[in-house]
Amino acid sequence: MPITVNGSSVPLPDDPRVSLLDMLRDRMGLTGTKKGCNQGACGACTVLVDGRRIVSCLALAVQYDGAEVTTIEGLAGAGALHPLQAAFVEHDGFQCGYCTPGQICSAIGMAAEVRRGMPSHVTADLSAATIALDRDELRERMSGNLCRCGAHNGIVDAIMDVYAGAPVPARDAALVGEDAA
Ligand code: FES
Ligand code: FES
Repeated sequence: MPITVNGSSVPLPDDPRVSLLDMLRDRMGLTGTKKGCNQGACGACTVLVDGRRIVSCLALAVQYDGAEVTTIEGLAGAGALHPLQAAFVEHDGFQCGYCTPGQICSAIGMAAEVRRGMPSHVTADLSAATIALDRDELRERMSGNLCRCGAHNGIVDAIMDVYAGAPVPARDAALVGEDAA
């Protein structure tokens, strides 16, 4: 079976050793997804697979036979930035921008995890029906995405702006596999 990347069906690599990250960057030219550590420690390579965030450097492309992958190039819709992309611009959520695609894909997946009620290390009430996305929750849940430029304050502000209390962007229903409200 092929794999679907940003809505387009593409064949899997013949070589089963090719990582999903290398397939995206080197074979498809989707260089928005970045290679930082290449060992699962920095989050720069984060993409959405079937609506869940993964680090693509630790994933073999052939593992995702039949899956739907969304990279930073696939987030915008109808000629407009995803609201989180726009919020990163508004809140100075980047300097060099190297971590930014991973931060944004990770945050979209992270917000969906909160909506599904998945607790984190700092969630006080594990039996709560809903989890509030406050700054402590956000920082803990985004701790796998490092920013060497130290833009974390802007990153947190941008994510809070879009996902803490505001209506979930309509685009996210398709991105994370939720029913549209
Ligand atoms: S490049 Fe994948 S986690 Fe750093
Ligand atoms: S903006 Fe430079 S690493 Fe985050």
